Parts: sequence; structure tokens; C-alpha cells
Amino acid sequence: MRQYNALINNKLIDNGQWLEIINPATLTVAGKVSALSAKDINDAFKVARKAQKAWEEKTLLDRINALKKFRDLIDQNKQEISKIISEEIAKNLKESLAEVVRTIEIIDYTFEEAKRIEPSAFTGEGMGAQNKIGIFSRVAKGVVLAISPFNYPFNLALAKIIPALVMGNTVVFKPATAGSLVGTFLSKLVIESNLPKGIFNIVTGRGREIGDIITSNPEIDMISFTGSVGIGNQIRKNGSTTDLVLELGGKDPALVLDDLNLDKYCDEIINGAFGYSGQRCTAVKRVLVSNKIADKLVPLLKAKLESLSVGMPKDNAFITPVIDEKSADFIQTLIDDAKEKGAKIVTGDKRKKNLMWPTLIDNVTLDMKVAWEEPFGPVLPIIRIDSIEEMIEISNNSQFGLQASIFCQDISKAIQTAKKIKTGTVNINSKPSRGPDSFPFLGIKDSGEGVQGIRESLLSMTRYMGLVINY
Ligand code: NAP
Ligand code: G3P
Repeated sequence: MRQYNALINNKLIDNGQWLEIINPATLTVAGKVSALSAKDINDAFKVARKAQKAWEEKTLLDRINALKKFRDLIDQNKQEISKIISEEIAKNLKESLAEVVRTIEIIDYTFEEAKRIEPSAFTGEGMGAQNKIGIFSRVAKGVVLAISPFNYPFNLALAKIIPALVMGNTVVFKPATAGSLVGTFLSKLVIESNLPKGIFNIVTGRGREIGDIITSNPEIDMISFTGSVGIGNQIRKNGSTTDLVLELGGKDPALVLDDLNLDKYCDEIINGAFGYSGQRCTAVKRVLVSNKIADKLVPLLKAKLESLSVGMPKDNAFITPVIDEKSADFIQTLIDDAKEKGAKIVTGDKRKKNLMWPTLIDNVTLDMKVAWEEPFGPVLPIIRIDSIEEMIEISNNSQFGLQASIFCQDISKAIQTAKKIKTGTVNINSKPSRGPDSFPFLGIKDSGEGVQGIRESLLSMTRYMGLVINY
């Protein structure tokens, strides 16, 4: 039985309280992690504050070199780490390993990009202050709280933790409960890599029990959060005086504007909607298409969907159980609501506990919940709309504004349409995606605030420090 400890000041915490982590595929206990008290959490922030000054005073290269051993231990343990991910979130083994490899690539790119965060120089001449030169550097904000979601428990954790540390901040990290095993697996790697005490602390426990204690701690200088809109709004309330980067939910539309490459469009839509069983914030969560094209598109989508393997992560099934039965129940309510209101189930609508067969729903209308709500599961609604103007209007009426996809061979038409879509990013002829990780990644409206992506994360965890020289 896996049993890992929280980490405070490079000490493994054992307060006798444990939190069981359930394997969503077997619905058995995958392992246990520490369940911290309010005192433990306050201690974590105190040591992070205490360690921050000395860590920031190291040179950038010294900080990067100190982190390289930690990075190498991740690489050496990548098979074990991917196995843990798979056991605790039912992500298939192939995708779990891909998550770890992608994380190592992010770490390496972050080390290099940090060296390109140069000071900016300003002259006062334009404002009649010709005797002043301003040199503005980026310096650490201080103590960063990093909170990650269950669906990329390793990647979306280190994509926050590493830039924070590289730029001289110290970190308190709260993994998702379903993600805490892989989160606390890092405790031993921190110790083994001899990172300075207290720069990287890992606190565990159920968010609903310790979340408010964590996010209202006075030592926090910046919170980087990825998760649901509801929790994001709660953090906005608690951390109101703190710098925030929030990556929240999505309802990414796919607008299909022609039928000139339907096979490719379908591959992108299927992978975009059903990768990791639809549990991705950037998943395609609605298709907007005219009747004429839909009559060709839907049968193609159906055929591709029915060819996807459904089963267990250990067998590398494409569709695996969703994170828990509560999520499966919610997803089912959206399917049932659509059926009751006259939608057509093209395929799917079948489940065994939290294993849900991929479901394609046609003739979805705007009075149905699945047209607007985020299932975070293997469900895709088709909304048949003939005019592009109405597709754009429906796309923009959503509370969300993460990403969108436009499928169209006429690039100028695609760009003209994309410019009217209110999301952080619009993908032309590909599924929505957070990658490549060197790109800025952002959501607007309820999908978040601030920007991630390697360079943007480095900048968001720093502030200007200006030197004005008078001569
Ligand atoms: P969640 O339920 O919001 O949880 C996210 C994180 O917040 C977890 O670590 C959770 O811990 C913690 N948390 C819970 N209550 C808290 C509180 N009161 N204060 C502080 N932290 C608290 O989200 P999830 O279920 O992990 O992920 C699914 C949602 O996240 C979806 O809406 C998805 O769209 C969104 N998401 C967005 C992105 C993006 O990049 N935009 C990426 C991934 C996921 P516990 O697990 O212990 O509750
Ligand atoms: O939901 C996770 C979000 O970060 C999407 O990542 O790379 O699957 O588009 P990706």
C-alpha cells in the first residue's frame, strides 16, 4: 500500500492522520497521504517565508543548478510516477507517462527561458527627464501557493512549482486529493535532491476541509490555481489581496464551417472531446454545425467514436473510468436532461458505475443543460445552427471563454470568424489544447484570470524592481 507524507521544511510529516486515495478504476484504496491540521499548514507557510530570502539571494544559475538534481530524479522515476498517476486518476498508462515526459520538457524549457527574462531599460527623455535612466528587473514575489487539479496532477503542479522556484520564490503546494499520491511522491525527491530546507513544502488534505485555511494564510504573496470555477471564485474571495492566476473551467466550442476535410475534422473533434474521457478543461464540449454538414459529420463521428476502446487504464483503453461516481452521476444528469427534452442519442449513454461509454448527442437545443454546462466527462453535444453569425453568438453566450476551434479550409474566413470569438485562444483546424507549453495559455470570463505558459508563468511569479539612475 502506497503511503506518502506531506513535506514541511524538508521533513516528512506524520501526525497520525491519513487520507485514503481511491483508485477510480478499481474503486479500491490506492494509497494514503497525510491529512494535515491547520497548525501544520501554518507551519508550512512560516518555513516558506523563512526560507525565501536566502533562496532569492542565490543567483539564477545557482537556483537552476540546485533544481537540476530534482529534475533528474523525476526523469529516473518517470515509470513509477506514471504508474501512480494512472492508479489515482484512472488515466491510461500511455497518457500518464506522456504527462510525466511533458513535465520534464516543461522543466527544461523553463530553466532556459528564465535566463531570457531580461531587465528592461527606459530613458526619461520623452518626458523631459533626460537625466534619468530606469532599469527595471523582474524579482520574486515571495511565497507562492500552488494548487493543482486532479486531471494533470503532476504536470499542472510542476508547471507552477518550477517557475516559482526558479525565479526565487518559495512554494507551498496543495495537490488535488486525487493526485495527492503523486504529489507527495515528490516529498522524498525533494529530500534526496538536497533542495534547501523550506523552499518547497507539500500540504495535503481534502480541499473542502483545509482549502480556506490554506488560501487565507497571510504569508501568501501569490496564488496559482487550476481547477473549477466554483473553487476559483472561493479563492478570489479568500485571497482578495493576493496576486492570482486562475485557470478554470471551459466549454470549448468547435465550429464546423465546411465539409472539405471532414475526416480530419472528426479526428480532431473526437480526440479533442474524448481524450482522458473528456476530463480536460480544453476538451471540445460542443459542436456547432449546419444541418447540411451535420448529416455527413454525425455518422463519421459515430463511427470513430464507436471504434474507441473502453476499459481499464492498465490496458491502455482510450476511454477509462471518470474520476468518481459523483462525477459520473452529474454527467448522466446532463445526458438524461437532453434526452427528456428531445435530443437524439447517437451512441453511448451506457455506464457501469463510473465507467461511461462515450456519448454523442445530436439535435441538442439551447434549452438543454448539456448545451451550456461543463460535463468534464465523455459527452459531446451537436448543436445544429445554419448561420455563422448565430454560431458565433452561441459560442460567445457561454459563461466560459477558454478556447475554441474553427474547422474551415478557407483560412481568411476562419480568421475573420476567429476574431469574433470571445475566448483566450481560437484554434484553426485543430482541437483546443494547452500545448505547446511555450505558448501563453489563458481563459477569459469564468475560465480564469492571468496567463500561464512557460514564459508567462515565470513573469506572473515575479514583479518589477526598478532602479532609476540620475546623471
Ligand atoms: P476542483 O474541484 O476545483 O479542485 C481543484 C483544486 O482545488 C484541488 O486541489 C482541490 O483539492 C482544491 N480545492 C478544493 N476546495 C478548495 C478550497 N476551498 N480552497 C482551495 N482549494 C480547494 O477542480 P478539479 O475537480 O480538480 O478539476 C476539474 C475542474 O478544474 C474542471 O472545472 C476543469 O475545467 C478545471 N480545470 C481547468 C484547467 C485549466 O487549465 N483551465 C485545467 C484542469 C482542470 P481537493 O481535490 O482536495 O478538493
Ligand atoms: O485540463 C487540463 C488543461 O490544462 C488542458 O491541457 O494539454 O490537455 O490541452 P491539454
